[in-house]
Amino acid sequence: MDTPQERQHGNGKSGFAPERRHFLKTVGGAAGLAALFGADALRGVEAAVAGTTGMTPQQAAAEETLWSEVQQAFSISRSLVNLDNGYTCPAPRVVTEAVIRYIWEQEPVPYGPYVQESRDKMAVVKTGLARIFGCDTGEIAVVRNATEALKTVLYGFPLKPGDEVLTTTQDYGSMVATLRHREQRGGIKLTQIDIPAPPKSMDEVVGLFERAFTPKTRFIFVSHISYTTVMIFPVKKICDMAHERGLEVVVDGAHAYGHLDFKHADLDCDYYGTSLHKWLLAPKGTGMLYIRKPYIEKIPPLMSGPSPRQNARMRKYESVGTQSMAPLIAIGEAIAFHNAIGSKRKEERLRYLKNYWAGRLQKTSKIKLYTSLVPEMSAGLAAVGIDGVDMTGLQEYLWEEHRIRTSRGIYARGEEVQWVRVTVSLYTAPSELD
Ligand SMILES: Cc1ncc(COP(=O)(O)O)c(C=O)c1O
Repeated sequence: MDTPQERQHGNGKSGFAPERRHFLKTVGGAAGLAALFGADALRGVEAAVAGTTGMTPQQAAAEETLWSEVQQAFSISRSLVNLDNGYTCPAPRVVTEAVIRYIWEQEPVPYGPYVQESRDKMAVVKTGLARIFGCDTGEIAVVRNATEALKTVLYGFPLKPGDEVLTTTQDYGSMVATLRHREQRGGIKLTQIDIPAPPKSMDEVVGLFERAFTPKTRFIFVSHISYTTVMIFPVKKICDMAHERGLEVVVDGAHAYGHLDFKHADLDCDYYGTSLHKWLLAPKGTGMLYIRKPYIEKIPPLMSGPSPRQNARMRKYESVGTQSMAPLIAIGEAIAFHNAIGSKRKEERLRYLKNYWAGRLQKTSKIKLYTSLVPEMSAGLAAVGIDGVDMTGLQEYLWEEHRIRTSRGIYARGEEVQWVRVTVSLYTAPSELD
């Protein structure tokens, strides 16, 4: 018997009505997303955005009339200051309400037909996700988070003893642990390039990669934005260098998708994994995996074996047993919200807010920023330390005494350094940063 997911994705026997297929075809674009998902709830934000017509995204970034309307779209508590939006970001009200609405829709009816009925909405969700990324819909799978997306590739990439994988000291611990696991199990070698915090320039980082390739390197694993010093990596240059050598690149996009305004062509990576509950502001427990079409077949899913006819399809990564459809469908509302604000406008607002606090602190002699404020090297996050101050203690103090939530990091490079990571969101008000 088919699982609900197999039914959701179709088994060739679906009774999907032809008029619905037509509907899908005609609403697959951005207008379709708004029509299907929460158009009314977005009207205030759309009107405020229309009020910035004629402004560049950089000018709109400082236009508080727009952003106070955006702040109203969230249901966050103003009794605390949340500057830990890199863990997962509170979703706008339109998304939360959609999750609840879809739960109410799915509960009174048998689940099989409901999952089947959800297919058109999920197709629109995937069209929207692929459009933001600038790839074919057949190259993405909706998964549960960046962890699932990236581990699928890191565990599944075919390697033999003696092969080498290149990553950096700034890549996410759990992904590095996966590669270490492969080292122990399969006799491969993992090399971590030591990246300064911050590097002087993108070229310095490119040079470090260039020197680290060996004839045994098989693939590169690199973050689009690192979780530690939160720098933007020169992914396109790294991909170009790798491709010249016949190598593939896996990119950890957990902090970049929905945050930076970019398309796949700006990176040209072969694999990309991201959470959608971070910067796209989608429901918690949602993520996306991209694989360049010719490589889909060689990467097995983490769970279960696909039937041979599924092996070249991204759907094989979505067969993880029964799930609630509600958060998956509500990704559509998050896409509509993202599109209503506009990708570039969003990136520039997040960068503006980061510069608002970090630019001022930079002028203080005891402050050390581990993140470069050069626009191409950072956007909405920055990591900061203070000479002679225990930053772990400071992070606890800020939360316990002032209800200001940040996250903390430790980075061992020669000597161990600690910092506090400050991550703004679209609902952050400059007064909170003051
Ligand atoms: C760079 C990076 N990659 C991957 C992840 C894992 O994300 P998730 O827990 O949503 O799977 C995180 C989480 O913070 C991260 O910072």
